[in-house]
Amino acid sequence: MNIFANKRIAIGITGGIAAYKACDMIRQLYQKGASEVVALMTPSAQTFVTPLTIESLTRSYVYKESMENSEDGVPTHISLAQDMDALLIMPASANTLAKLAHAMADNIVTTTAITFTEKPIVIVPAMNTRMWENPLVQKNLRILRSQENITVVPPEVGELACGEYGEGKLASLETIQLYLYKALHPQRRLYKEKRVVVTAGGTTEPIDSVRSITNRSSGKMGVAIADELFAMGADVLLLHTIPGLDRPYRIICLETVEEMARYTKRNFKEADGLVMAAAVSDFQVSPNQRARINGKIKKSDEMMLELVKTEDILGELGPSKREDQFIVGFAAESDHVLMHAREKLERKHLDMIVANDISRSDIGFGSDENEVTLLFEDKERIDLPKASKSMIARQLLLHLYQKYLARREEESHDGAESVEQEKASDSHD
Ligand code: CTP
Repeated sequence: MNIFANKRIAIGITGGIAAYKACDMIRQLYQKGASEVVALMTPSAQTFVTPLTIESLTRSYVYKESMENSEDGVPTHISLAQDMDALLIMPASANTLAKLAHAMADNIVTTTAITFTEKPIVIVPAMNTRMWENPLVQKNLRILRSQENITVVPPEVGELACGEYGEGKLASLETIQLYLYKALHPQRRLYKEKRVVVTAGGTTEPIDSVRSITNRSSGKMGVAIADELFAMGADVLLLHTIPGLDRPYRIICLETVEEMARYTKRNFKEADGLVMAAAVSDFQVSPNQRARINGKIKKSDEMMLELVKTEDILGELGPSKREDQFIVGFAAESDHVLMHAREKLERKHLDMIVANDISRSDIGFGSDENEVTLLFEDKERIDLPKASKSMIARQLLLHLYQKYLARREEESHDGAESVEQEKASDSHD
């Protein structure tokens, strides 16, 4: 997915064992569309990874000195701040955090960071747990976080290079990229203060202790929506069925419809919205037959399963949702796509339904791309042409915002103003 399409990214590498991970990061930034990646290395970083390695990966000159001029004669740190879209500092050592917090500029990374006042800086610390927990390091982090253009990516808990276990491990490359994507996102505040529950993936219903009924949903569309909501500033909870998924927002891995229903209903109460992208199983083995099955069913010539309908989660939540909540459903159809989707939109009382044609092999299930039609409760229809699931997610959320949330916010703003006016006229009476 080209989430960094046409972006020019400067990567500042400082001294730490995690410096080797910058190599992979550079490759992945290019793979995800970056048009240029330029590296800056502190003297200490050069003792961990050679500039030659970094130069081969960035395909351009590596900046190592703070007093260096670029080709056009402008000091490097100034031309980088003018030309690059973002500065990613990874790994960021405790020493670099201290310098940045106090605006010290004694090498090419710190000098460039201090010049980068109008563009995003994403800092990714990695260090030993005791260093990370040191109140002085935490104080420096608070100073850095208070800057509008700086994002600090929290380190993970795990086994550290020194052999100890604890907090301080460099965040995963995927997590770092999501924070960088957010920092560069033109609508990174659109869903600020909105709590949104997203569901993704196919549920699984057990037959016996080893067999199950499931479907082919990969969960990619739902995860792309959750990622996009995170990048647009929402407080996201993702309920999913994808093993090993790692995300910087709250995620809960589930299996059955019963679990999906319980967690969705519980969390929707406190939420502003729900995007139900999960492919929820429509049938499960009847409780009577399940009670008769012990362990693994032995092979026989014939096997009859008694299936009963599962709970329709949206069917229950849609009609009872509050005025200030939104619900988006999905309709994966193989024929009469729009007709079936509109019927579901109405039957489940949804604000919007995303219709996609699963008879096409180039989009939808398992693919990285999709092509969908958005249908709204007021009969409006918007076709989104074929694009990456991440781009579809962005378009879908922009339309949803324009259609409902912008209007609701205006109304509540007008409401708040008229309450203020009423209060003012009351006090004059
Ligand atoms: N859905 C749900 N609970 C179910 C089944 C579906 O909440 N038990 C949700 C899906 O997550 C999706 C929407 O309802 O957002 C439509 O799902 P879909 O499977 O297309 O519709 P169904 O109502 O199950 O109808 P059918 O399978 O017959 O097409």
